Amino acid sequence: MLDILKNELANKVVSIVGAGLIGRSWAALFAAAGFTVKLYDSQPGTKALMESFWTEVKPTLIELGLATSNTNPTFHVTNDIKEAVIDVDFIQECIPERLDAKLALYQQMEPYLKSNAVIATSSSGLKLSDLQAGFKDPSRIIIAHPFNPPHLIPLVELYTNEKTASGVLDVAESIYSLCGKVTIRLKKEVLAHVANRLQAALWREAIHLVLDGVASLKDVDLAVSAGPGLRWGVMGPHALLNLGGGEGGLRAYCQQFRDSYHLWWDDLGKPQLTDEAIDKLVAEVKEHVGDKTYLELKQDRDSKLVAVLQALQNNKLKNQLSRSAQ
Ligand SMILES: NC(=O)c1ccc[n+]([C@@H]2O[C@H](COP(=O)([O-])OP(=O)(O)OC[C@H]3O[C@@H](n4cnc5c(N)ncnc54)[C@H](O)[C@@H]3O)[C@@H](O)[C@H]2O)c1
Repeated sequence: MLDILKNELANKVVSIVGAGLIGRSWAALFAAAGFTVKLYDSQPGTKALMESFWTEVKPTLIELGLATSNTNPTFHVTNDIKEAVIDVDFIQECIPERLDAKLALYQQMEPYLKSNAVIATSSSGLKLSDLQAGFKDPSRIIIAHPFNPPHLIPLVELYTNEKTASGVLDVAESIYSLCGKVTIRLKKEVLAHVANRLQAALWREAIHLVLDGVASLKDVDLAVSAGPGLRWGVMGPHALLNLGGGEGGLRAYCQQFRDSYHLWWDDLGKPQLTDEAIDKLVAEVKEHVGDKTYLELKQDRDSKLVAVLQALQNNKLKNQLSRSAQ
């Protein structure tokens, strides 16, 4: 079944515009899912970078069942924007997070777009209403924000608005679902979407705790990864605190802890990333990660992520089997 689906997808082209950290990761995932992948970048060297990235991540994609040893995609690299987008149904835009650069790119690409092409921007936090200004016809662009690395982290945050053509979101959702992604839909526009706001809130306090000398950066990181971070990977904060209230659920939790939370919220830090603050964080993160190279750290992160994702997949399968046996 998967092979039949993949054969059908081989004729469907996805174009990655901006083949950096996020673009290459998307490209690997789309290729593994069976799409024909085009890549466009303003810098030379994309073909070699993409091929080496594919070699690096293929074993991981195989482990997750997203690729097989026979998955050997050809990445079609071009430095011509017309060639990159012409006749393409789905474009994942991944150029740097600068509004002016994205608007200029959209103006360049629009004359060559198919009338029903979907342009999904990976933007981490720009507003769709600002990005739509780059198009004469703004009805085909949507926010589709992944989390790094997109080939491993399931989440994609989707946001459209009243200018978006009907059906565009459905197309995007079905494409991401074919790649094994988990999508959420934002109901209204907000700077930095949902997940980056949550990350910003947590990181702000993590920085404050380090700068204020409450704990070392290493211990602050450990407090997340060995504590609540582990739980957040299996249930969100609300579902977890619903359990924290015992049989009384979230209401009981709120009743027990609301005064405490009000005190804690008032006491949270508001650090600034000054040069001194950055120097301290960088020095402490160096101590934390030791002399491991960037590649070694990435491999460490990815092997742990794969272990968690596999455990969750197995758990889902076990639950499905036990339900069907009942
Ligand atoms: N880095 C993250 O953790 C992360 C996570 C999720 C989403 N994003 C978003 O993804 C997008 C890309 O981020 P990144 O981290 O991959 O950046 P990056 O700098 O690693 O890659 C950007 C690529 O775009 C190319 N580029 C620049 N201008 C271009 C243009 N006009 N036309 C074509 N190519 C161009 C660059 O040469 C580079 O290869 C941003 O919008 C960012 O907010 C980043």
